[in-house]
Amino acid sequence: MKKYPPISKDFPHFLHGGDYNPEQWIDTPEIWDEDMALMKEAHTNEFTVGIFSWSKLEPEEGVFDFSWLDTIIDKIHKNGGKVVLATPSGARPRWLSAKYPEVLRVNENLVRNEYGNRHNHCYTSPIYREKVRIINEKLSERYGKHPAVVAWHLSNEYNGQCYCDKCAEEFRNFLRKRFDNDIEKLNFQYWTTFWSHNFSSFDEIRPPRVASGGPEGDAILLGLKLAWKEFCSERTVDFAAWEKKAIRKYSDRPVTTNCMPMHIGFDHFKMGEVLDVHSIDLYPRWSNDFTEVSKYCAYHNTFCRGIRGGQPFMVMESAPGINLGRITYHKVKTKEDQLAEAVNFIAHGADTIQYFQWRKGRGAQEKIHGAVVDHYGKSDNRVFQIVKTTGEMLEKLDGVLGTSVDAKVGVVYDYKTQWVLDEGISPIGPYDTNGYFKLTKNIFTSVWDKNIPVDMISYDMDFSKYKVILLPLPYIISEATAEKLKKFVSDGGTLISTCLAATANENDLNYIGGMPGAGLRELFGLRVDEVDYYGIGAPTPNAVTYGEKEYPVRLHAELIIPDDAETLMTFKSDILEGSPAVLRKNYGKGVAYYIGFNPGLDFLSDFIPETLEKSGVLPLSEITGDDFIRITKREGDGEEYFFVMNISGTIEQKVSLKGEFTDMLTGEKVSGEKTVPAKGFMILSK
Ligand code: GLA
Ligand code: ZN
Repeated sequence: MKKYPPISKDFPHFLHGGDYNPEQWIDTPEIWDEDMALMKEAHTNEFTVGIFSWSKLEPEEGVFDFSWLDTIIDKIHKNGGKVVLATPSGARPRWLSAKYPEVLRVNENLVRNEYGNRHNHCYTSPIYREKVRIINEKLSERYGKHPAVVAWHLSNEYNGQCYCDKCAEEFRNFLRKRFDNDIEKLNFQYWTTFWSHNFSSFDEIRPPRVASGGPEGDAILLGLKLAWKEFCSERTVDFAAWEKKAIRKYSDRPVTTNCMPMHIGFDHFKMGEVLDVHSIDLYPRWSNDFTEVSKYCAYHNTFCRGIRGGQPFMVMESAPGINLGRITYHKVKTKEDQLAEAVNFIAHGADTIQYFQWRKGRGAQEKIHGAVVDHYGKSDNRVFQIVKTTGEMLEKLDGVLGTSVDAKVGVVYDYKTQWVLDEGISPIGPYDTNGYFKLTKNIFTSVWDKNIPVDMISYDMDFSKYKVILLPLPYIISEATAEKLKKFVSDGGTLISTCLAATANENDLNYIGGMPGAGLRELFGLRVDEVDYYGIGAPTPNAVTYGEKEYPVRLHAELIIPDDAETLMTFKSDILEGSPAVLRKNYGKGVAYYIGFNPGLDFLSDFIPETLEKSGVLPLSEITGDDFIRITKREGDGEEYFFVMNISGTIEQKVSLKGEFTDMLTGEKVSGEKTVPAKGFMILSK
């Protein structure tokens, strides 16, 4: 594997810093100077500025004031620091929405929002786009080549949707394009003859709404609802591309935007195509079960590495101390929690550690959210000292930058399927609270728990580097994707699917001729005759036995008629008693497995690793350890880095090192047996 280039070739170090709002302290410039001194003391080297600064950058329409930003960027530069510079589109000044109300969103009840909060703008509004273009170009022209500016941060956590007339017209255009301007193609794919909902022209289409009680308008057309989700995703990604274009006019520095993986308002893989580097915002609650939180982080961090096909990502936001959202509080983090969080990020591909926020503001909503610098204002408090320790650690890890994980296992994450299953578009939903997300995470965890390198991927990615691909609840599969999957298996790959495979095409139109559709019936060698739905919260009415063990079957199970697949396991009871539950078929040079139910982590943890082993995928062997030891490996240009994490919050664990390693934190050579304390870790190079 080759190393990826660093975010800034002039600064091959971990960026360590975070969101900074100097505009809140314009009247107390002595605070700015304190911040510069504290930046050095904290072993931080970066500030992310400008995120919500529009009203201070353009206080009146067309009247710009960059003086404070000039000063602060120069101060950071003189202090040896770097800047990630944001575009201010995440929140607009009052004058903008007062003069041009069209920039405000219209909600699902077709009421235009008032000025307020943030992220409350229409992604289509030509005026909003124009105002954003102007300020982005000005920022780019002024700072785009500044030696301190290492990257651009577009807006902030894009999310949301708008039902205004302009968005509705764009939605129609989106559909015109998809269906070659042929309304009959749309009528067929969305099955509009149902309840006489046929369209005679694209002009009749309105965004489907469900909020105002009862299925308003065309909310009964499931394909149209899915199209609306896709459209909202497309709007968001298109808006980001628009912002980037303005930046590119004068600056070639890498562009990112901060994403919360749980914001499912847009397809993050599509957003990744617009960006030069992906960023995560993650706020794990370490005061909950340490082991579970470690797994939660591993999943999200791996997901972020997957967005751009394995490229290391930035951690744009994480909480120093408490994370105060809008209404929720949680306990303070211990030093061990904070360091474990940083190591979990890096172990899975992060090349920065940044925080929200650098300094607590004195008022407004986030004034008590954790910060590197507290209202106290000094450096001898606990959180500041933990940040400093983190900084000292990062300074020893430069070699890791640009390396990534070489995985042979890919778990597919498909936003369309997520929208259909978790957002209740499909009649089988709401499937479960975040059922798609949960199963995907459990499948990931069953692999990760065994120290087997694993990626999160999309259907659009190159499958050829993988030996095994896993499909959680692959309800939506297009014919093109089905062909790609068949080729993957016939070329020698192993495919493992759970139930509901290829029920419907990309427009949520069911396949005919038996499930799985799109030709996958031939691949799996079976037909699903009926689906038994047990419902959320039902007792577990069925089970499968595997070896000595019995596993409860939750949610639903399928009545499967094998064509030419071999049955590996059967259901235990009820109408499904003795009928196939897990099957396998050799196909070309590869093999396809089908799990005819929604498996829990208990089943997956036994079945998946064994199946991977049969396909020649084994755990990392250079280091092994007790049950709570997790190991990841980042590599590139012949260098290898190992992250050994004890994910127990209470007990120490043993590891065994095969050969000699260098402990990157102490510089010592290490080999043989070692003990890792609870919540502890080792970072080793080979
Ligand atoms: C999000 C936002 C930040 C801040 C934090 C608080 O991640 O991007 O601006 O509001 O939440 O946790
Ligand atoms: Zn709109």
